[in-house]
Amino acid sequence: MPQTLAVESLDGGVRLITLQRPAALNALTTELLGELAAALDAAQADSETRVVVLTGSRKAFAAGADINEMAERDLTGILNDPRQASWQQITGFSKPLIAAVNGFALGGGCELAMHADILIAGEDARFGQPEINLGIMPGAGGTQRLLRAVGKSLAMQMVLGGESIDARHALRAGLVSEVTQPELTVERALQLARLIAGKAPLALRLAKETLLKALDTDLASGLRFERHAFTVLAGTRDREEGIRAFQEKRRPSFTGH
Ligand code: CAA
Repeated sequence: MPQTLAVESLDGGVRLITLQRPAALNALTTELLGELAAALDAAQADSETRVVVLTGSRKAFAAGADINEMAERDLTGILNDPRQASWQQITGFSKPLIAAVNGFALGGGCELAMHADILIAGEDARFGQPEINLGIMPGAGGTQRLLRAVGKSLAMQMVLGGESIDARHALRAGLVSEVTQPELTVERALQLARLIAGKAPLALRLAKETLLKALDTDLASGLRFERHAFTVLAGTRDREEGIRAFQEKRRPSFTGH
């Protein structure tokens, strides 16, 4: 049983993971990151689970790496950091991942939110990379993913100045796709998750992989990758089902084959 998070399998193929270290604003200890990576691996392996929603509490999605734990690590400790393996597992999760963010998403918390494919934020959410205030810098993708999400100037401002931005600013900058009332953030993320969970799993997987390719490849290679992925889907039963359902004017029933 995980100690630092709760996992709930909901109907409609959706799994909800809630970070639960309220006393430390869900600061990401090595244990928490390991449990999250394991929970995502389990969701990956479970064919009933089509989409995962990740959330925290009303006050904090996650306030960063656990600073007390970080204080114990010297250069060698950071070099051999076991957290790296967990981040890799989280990055490799191939089903759609939606972050429902209320309150603080700072440092590693902001980096974790940016691992999600879709970010929904409550009005009171705050996103920031305050590591510079600790004499360090983001180390779990915060420089690379933030710059790609919000552009150079705002990313520089946030990382070099350590100031956070509110949900509306995050929406304007393209870091999140929707802002809701805080009490509705999780509900809205679950609603979106149920919508996505009804789609063909193989198409979702390849569409996610292909969209993410756009972040780290040139246009010609990305277009080639897209064409290959599109062609692969032509061999799936779910494609046949999707097209037949359209012609027969009914809802498709996708099986993941
Ligand atoms: N690590 C460990 N404990 C943390 C924490 C963190 N990142 N963030 C908050 N806490 C703890 C506080 O120490 C406090 O514990 P106690 O009650 O035992 O004192 C508790 O959570 C509540 O926090 P505050 O009393 O500070 O709450 P607040 O509402 O006054 O302030 C806050 C909230 C602005 C988020 C403030 O807690 C804060 O600045 N936290 C640190 C944010 C930060 O610097 N994050 C980056 C960490 S480095 C990193 O993330 C690097 C990386 O991934 C590579």
